[in-house]
Amino acid sequence: ATPSEIPILGHSYPTDSYTNITPTIVSKLSRRLHAQDGHPISTLRSLIENHFPDYAHLSSLSPVVTPYQNFDSLSFPADHPGRSKTDSYYINKDVMLRTHTSAHEVDVFTSGEARWLLTADVYRRDEIDASHYPVFHQMEGANIFGTDDASVGAVERDIQRLERQLAESNIEIQDVQHITATNPAQPSHDPRHSEIAARHLKLSLNSLMYELFAGVGGATKENPLQVRWIEAYFPFTSPSYEVEVFFRGKWLEILGCGVVLQSTLDRSNVANKMGWAFGLGLERIAMILYSIPDIRLFWSEDMRFLSQFTSGKISTFKPYSKYPASYRDVSFWQPDNGIHDNDVYDLVRDVAGDLAEDVAVIDRFTHPKTKRHSTAFRVNYRSMDRSLVNEEVNALQDQVVSRLKEQLRV
Ligand code: PHE
Repeated sequence: ATPSEIPILGHSYPTDSYTNITPTIVSKLSRRLHAQDGHPISTLRSLIENHFPDYAHLSSLSPVVTPYQNFDSLSFPADHPGRSKTDSYYINKDVMLRTHTSAHEVDVFTSGEARWLLTADVYRRDEIDASHYPVFHQMEGANIFGTDDASVGAVERDIQRLERQLAESNIEIQDVQHITATNPAQPSHDPRHSEIAARHLKLSLNSLMYELFAGVGGATKENPLQVRWIEAYFPFTSPSYEVEVFFRGKWLEILGCGVVLQSTLDRSNVANKMGWAFGLGLERIAMILYSIPDIRLFWSEDMRFLSQFTSGKISTFKPYSKYPASYRDVSFWQPDNGIHDNDVYDLVRDVAGDLAEDVAVIDRFTHPKTKRHSTAFRVNYRSMDRSLVNEEVNALQDQVVSRLKEQLRV
């Protein structure tokens, strides 16, 4: 049963029917990997910060936010699926864990920052496998400027500087048109200013991609770094784009970005400015640059992991031998009102923590006569640090089964 209050980061919150945050998740809130000197996530943060030296570098904002900050302040529609309890962690109906660093855009713009980077842990209910973890780290970057001639002129000069710099780099860019009918400028913007913001955004990020990926992968005239821009959609930017980088034989999705919706800036009392923002996932990029094969490793306190890294330097991770995996299956009839797969994933996480490497649906079945649904899950157990014995895995699985019955009423 859920307690009537839960303590989180030194504050006690009442619970209600929205509460779905688990002890496993609460235990992550104070880890702050992005501030742990020498940790790959922290090194990646500082490399990006060094690439934007005249931006404010923020990294201590609390993960506890309101749905207003996370969604409404960014003009998410009332029925957006991200708001649901199955996708996000709620402490109660009025407070939640941020699902993205964009949750702080209005606060940071309101505080008067015009050029800033913000690094933080973000939380999403999700599947369990080598590349999904319910906590990960994002960096938000933004740059807003006045629309008077002098301010726009300064952005145009920076565009020229970046163009000169990129012309001398071994980079090949597949661009999309800045503004199209399906990716429009905002009605309140002078289309010329919108175009300038989009160009400055693209050049700033191409330059960052070159710094990060050409440094590790190498880039030559014959084998330039390839960056691809794609039209995208976000509720809080227009036009919007995604950036992909071709690295070791694959196109990788790196970030989302766009021209900030003017309503966001109006809410921040900087209605006379416009500009761009991006958000990138640090684990994704770190896994690629450091060759780290499993996202759980970032949370490891094992010296065989931590001692491999030096602050400020990207190096290739040398995997130590994996301990054996052990899987257990469980299948059950769904209760009448059904349950979401994410409820099962969170339950397994809560029982097994990082010992659950992977949870997969292996079968779904509807009884032809009764129309009842059954689902079968396979839980793969593996420790990063030791061999699990059968008795231990059985005990974990027994707990999973009894909590499925008690908590989810299967
Ligand atoms: N917050 C978005 C995400 O998490 C990324 C984004 C940030 C997109 C800023 C546009 C502008 O996917």
